[in-house]
Amino acid sequence: MSIIEQSRQGNVLVLTVNNPPVNAFSPGVPEGLHAGLDVAEKDDSIGAVVIIGGGRTFIAGADIKTFDMPREQAPDLRGFISRLDGFPKPTVAAIHGTALGGGMEVTLACNYRVASSDAQMGLPEVKLGVLPGAGGTQRLPRVVGAQKALEMMLSGNPIKATEAKELGLVDEIVEGDLLAGAVKFAEGIADARPLPRVSERKVEGGTPELFTQARQGIKKTHKGQLAPTYIVDLAEIASTKAFTDGWAAEARLFMMAKDSPQSRALRHLFFADRERAKIPGITKETPVSTIKSVGVIGAGTMGGGIAMNFLNAGIPVTIVETGQEALDRGLGIIRRNYENTAKKGRMTQDDVEKRMALLTPSLDMGDLKDADLIIEAVFENMDVKKDIFTKLDAVAKPGAILATNTSTLDVNEIADVTKRPESVIGLHFFSPANVMRLLEVVRGAKTSEGVLATSLDMAKKIKKVGVVVGVCNGFVGNRMLVPYRQQAQYLVLNGAKPQDVDAAMHALGMPMGPFEMSDMAGLDIGYASRREAAKKAGTQIESDWSDKLVEMGRKGQKTGGGIYDYPEGRTPVPSAITERMIDEYRAEKGITPRDIPQEEATKRLAYGLMNEGAKILEEGIALRASDIDVIYVNGYGFPAYRGGPMQYASEQGLQNVVKDLESYGMEPAPLLKELASEGKTFAQYDRERAKGG
Ligand code: 3HC
Repeated sequence: MSIIEQSRQGNVLVLTVNNPPVNAFSPGVPEGLHAGLDVAEKDDSIGAVVIIGGGRTFIAGADIKTFDMPREQAPDLRGFISRLDGFPKPTVAAIHGTALGGGMEVTLACNYRVASSDAQMGLPEVKLGVLPGAGGTQRLPRVVGAQKALEMMLSGNPIKATEAKELGLVDEIVEGDLLAGAVKFAEGIADARPLPRVSERKVEGGTPELFTQARQGIKKTHKGQLAPTYIVDLAEIASTKAFTDGWAAEARLFMMAKDSPQSRALRHLFFADRERAKIPGITKETPVSTIKSVGVIGAGTMGGGIAMNFLNAGIPVTIVETGQEALDRGLGIIRRNYENTAKKGRMTQDDVEKRMALLTPSLDMGDLKDADLIIEAVFENMDVKKDIFTKLDAVAKPGAILATNTSTLDVNEIADVTKRPESVIGLHFFSPANVMRLLEVVRGAKTSEGVLATSLDMAKKIKKVGVVVGVCNGFVGNRMLVPYRQQAQYLVLNGAKPQDVDAAMHALGMPMGPFEMSDMAGLDIGYASRREAAKKAGTQIESDWSDKLVEMGRKGQKTGGGIYDYPEGRTPVPSAITERMIDEYRAEKGITPRDIPQEEATKRLAYGLMNEGAKILEEGIALRASDIDVIYVNGYGFPAYRGGPMQYASEQGLQNVVKDLESYGMEPAPLLKELASEGKTFAQYDRERAKGG
C-alpha cells in the first residue's frame, strides 16, 4: 500500500493518505499528494479530487517528530497547501476521525469539505507551544469569524462535525459510507465555477475591542506563554490585512514559536504522556481485568475524594469506616461536593442522585468481599495499615486488587503481611483526589504484571494520569519535595523572605511557591511527622522558626495564619510575626543574612527538585526522566511550558546546571554529572535506555 493511494471513481480522483497510526503529514505524504495533483491536472477526464484518510482518521496534523529536522528535509506542508489553494479543479476533503492542525489546514485549502457525523476538527497547535502554521490562522477566521477562530485556536480544543456544519466549516455531513458520499458530492460540484476559495473571503467580527479583550484574556489563561500572543496577532492581521500578508507573517511567527524552549517543552510532554504507558514486561498479552466494583477504606478527605472518581465513572463503591459518625460525615462531604458542582451548573441534581446511589456506606470490612479493587485510605501509620491488610487478606475475594493510598510508607512491607503480595499495589492519589489528575501507581517488588496493567487501565477509565513508580520513601513526587524544601529553608535562613522564595517559583510559572504550599497543606503535618520520625530514631528535635509558628497556633491557611497572614480568605499576605521569628532564629544561629538574587533562588529550588529526580532515575524508581516531568506537571503545578523539572534542567544545559549546583555548594547527583560530562540531555538518556543502551 503506497503512502498516498490514487484511485479513480468515475471522473473523480481519490487520494487516500495511508500513514498509520494517525496519518500525520510525514515525509512522503506531500510528495504523494503532489503526484496525485499532477495526475489530476494533466488528465482531462478527471473533474474533481477527493482527499481522504485511510484507516481510523483524516490527517491528524503535521508530523511532530519532524519539527526539529532541518527545514529543507522537513515535509513541506505549506508548499502543498499553496498549490491546493490555487488548484484549477475542485478539491473536496472527506473527513473522518480527527482533522487536526495541519490536517485541518489541508481541509481549509480545499474548495469543499464533507465529513462523517462523528468527525472532529480543530487546531490544537497551541498545546504544542506553536500556532497553526499552514494557513490556519488566516483561513479559519475567514470561515468562522474572528471570535470563534480565536476561541478554537487559543483553546486548541476540537469541535464536532455538527458544530462544524453549523459554522460553515463543513458543507455536508455524510451518513453512511464517507468515500461514496464524498465522491457523489465531488461529482455534483465538478463543473462549479468560480471555485470557492477560503483565502478570498473576508473576516467577520475582527474588531479592535475583540483583540484587546483576547490579549487581556490570555494574560490569565496562558500566562507567560508565547504562542497564544502570536495567535492573537495573526488573527488580527487576518482581519486587517491581505491574505498574502497574513500568510507570510504566519510563517515567520510559526518558526519563532517552533524553535522556542516553550514549544520544545510542550512537545516533550506530548510524547512523555504517550511513553508513560509503555511499561517493561507489560504487553498486549498481559491480562487486564475490568474493575466493576470498588471498596474504599476510610471516608476522610482522601477516601471520599478517591470514591468520587469511581462514582463519576459509573462504578459502584462501598466505603468503609470504623464509626457511624465518621461515615456520615464522609458521605455528607461527598454529597456536598456534588451539590456544589450542580449549583455551578456543571451537573444536574439527577446526576448527583445517580452518583450517590452507587455509593454504599458500611461499618464492616466484610462488605468488601466482592470488590474487584479495594483502596485503603486511612492515616499514615504502618501498624494500622498492616492490620487493615491482614483483615483484607481474609475477606477479599481471590484476584481482587488490594491497594494502599500511602504517600510515604513501604508498599512491600504492607504487601508482606498478606498471603498475596502479588495482588498488592500502591495507588497514590493527590489531594483533592477527585480533582487532581496525577496517580502514582506504585509497583511493589512482588506486584504482578496483570495487577499493574489493570491498575493502569483503571487509571485511564477514571481519567487519571497514571505513572508507574517504584517503592521508596515519598515515591517520586514527594521525595523530590524534600531537597526542594531544604533549599527553601536555606534561602530564608540566609536572607530571603518567604515571599521572595515563593516569588522565585512564580517567576518560573509555578502557581505556588514552597511556603504557600506548606501553608495550604498545614504546617502542623510536617511538624508532627518530623517529631514522630525523631521519636522513632530516639533523637531530639529542636524547633525552628516555622515550628515556633505551629506552637503559636499558626498552622497555615486553615487557622487564618501560618507563614503568611490570611486576612481575606486564601490570599497570602506577608506576616510581621513570621519575619520576627525568622530574624530571631537567624540571630540564634549566628547567621548574617545576605541579598540573594532571584535567579539563584529559582535555580536552587528547581535544580533541587531535578537533582533528586536524577537520583530517583538512577535508582530505577522512575522508569524515565519524562515520567518525572509528567508527575511534576500533573501533580505539583510545574508549568507545562517548561516541560517539567528534568526537561527544564536539560534546556539550561546540564553542564551549566552542574556548575551552578557546585557554586551553591550543592552536590550534583552522579547521573547528572555523567550526562553533563557527555554533553547529553535527560531526553537523550531516556531514548538511549529505551533502545536498550
Ligand atoms: N505527529 C507525530 N506523531 C503523532 C502525531 C503527530 N501529529 N499524533 C499522534 N502521533 C503518534 C503518537 O505519538 C502515538 O505514537 P506511539 O504509538 O508511538 O506512542 C501514535 O501516533 C498514536 O497517538 P495517540 O496514542 O495519541 O492516539 P489516540 O488515538 O489516543 O489520539 C490523536 C489520536 C487525537 C490524533 C492524538 O494523537 C493527537 O492529539 N495528536 C496530535 C494532534 C496534533 O497536535 N496535531 C497538530 C500538530 S502541529 C501542526 O499540525 C502544525 C501545523 O499547523 C503546521
